[in-house]
Amino acid sequence: MVLVDFLQDRRSVRKFKDKKIDKSELERIKGYCKTVEDQVPSVKFFIAENGQTVYDKLLGKAGYGGHMIKAPHYMGLAISEDTDRNNLALGFIIEQMNTQIIEMGYDTCWITIHFVDDETRKAIFGEAGPMIKYLIAFGYREGKKLFEESAVSWRHPLNEICFKDEIGNPASLEDLEERAILETMSSIRFAPSHKNKQPWRFVIKDDCVEIYMVKSDDEVENKDRLVDIGVIMLYFEELIKNINVYDKWTIIFEDQGEYLRVAKFKL
Ligand SMILES: Cc1cc2nc3c(=O)[nH]c(=O)nc-3n(C[C@H](O)[C@H](O)[C@H](O)COP(=O)(O)O)c2cc1C
Repeated sequence: MVLVDFLQDRRSVRKFKDKKIDKSELERIKGYCKTVEDQVPSVKFFIAENGQTVYDKLLGKAGYGGHMIKAPHYMGLAISEDTDRNNLALGFIIEQMNTQIIEMGYDTCWITIHFVDDETRKAIFGEAGPMIKYLIAFGYREGKKLFEESAVSWRHPLNEICFKDEIGNPASLEDLEERAILETMSSIRFAPSHKNKQPWRFVIKDDCVEIYMVKSDDEVENKDRLVDIGVIMLYFEELIKNINVYDKWTIIFEDQGEYLRVAKFKL
C-alpha cells in the first residue's frame, strides 16, 4: 500500500451498512490475526462475525460518552498486562490490523471499551473480555463521501509537533527535508488518535528522532495516549522504509514532567 496517500485520505467511519462482509474475507482477516499471534504470543485477537450481538451488549456503554458504533463486525485484541510498554504495543498491533482491513477495501473505526464493566466484556468475549480495551468496528461505509461533514479531521501543523534538538524549538520544513523525513512527518500526522488529541511530539536530533507524549493529568487518559503513540510509531516505521531505512524504535520511557520521552529512532 502507498501509505503516504492512504494516511492523508483515511478517516474514521462511524456509519456502516447493515451488510456482512464475505465469509472468505473474514477468514483472510483471521489469517492475518493468526500471523500476528504467532509472532507475539502474549496477544489474542477476537473477531465478532455477528456484530449485532456485540452492539446490543455495548449499546450505551462503549465509545465516547456511551456512543456505541453499530457495525456488522468488530475486532478486538486482548493483551495480558496493562503496562506502558503493552499499551504502546497495543496501538501498534491493532493499527497494523486496521490498515490490513482498510487495504482490503473496508472502512473502520476504533471504539474505546476499557471503561465498560468486566461482566459485560466477559459476556461478549469470554474470560479474556476484561483484557480487551478497544475494538475496531469494520464493514462497508453507509452513504456517499459527498454528504459527509469533512473529509479529514483537524490536525496540528508540522511546526507544532516537530522540533529541532528540544521541544519548543520548531523544526523548519528545511530541517525535515534535510533529514529526508518531510514526507514521512507530513503524512503520519494524519494517524488516528483517541479523541483526536494527537499527543505526539517529535524531536529531531543529530543522529535520531525522538518521540514524546504530551501527558494528561488523568492517568487513564495517559494509557489512551500511549496507545496513540504506538499507532504513530507504526506509521513512522512503515513510511521511513520509503527512504530505505528499515530500523525500529528503541523504547526509552523517561518522565520529563509535562512530557513522557517514549522512544528514539536512529537516523
Ligand atoms: C486509541 C483510540 C481510541 C478511539 N476511540 C474511539 C471511540 O471510542 N469512538 C469513536 O467514535 N472514535 C474513536 N477513535 C477515533 C478517533 O476519534 C479519531 O481517530 C480521531 O477523532 C481523528 O479522526 P479521523 O480518524 O477521522 O482522522 C479512537 C481512536 C484511537 C486511536
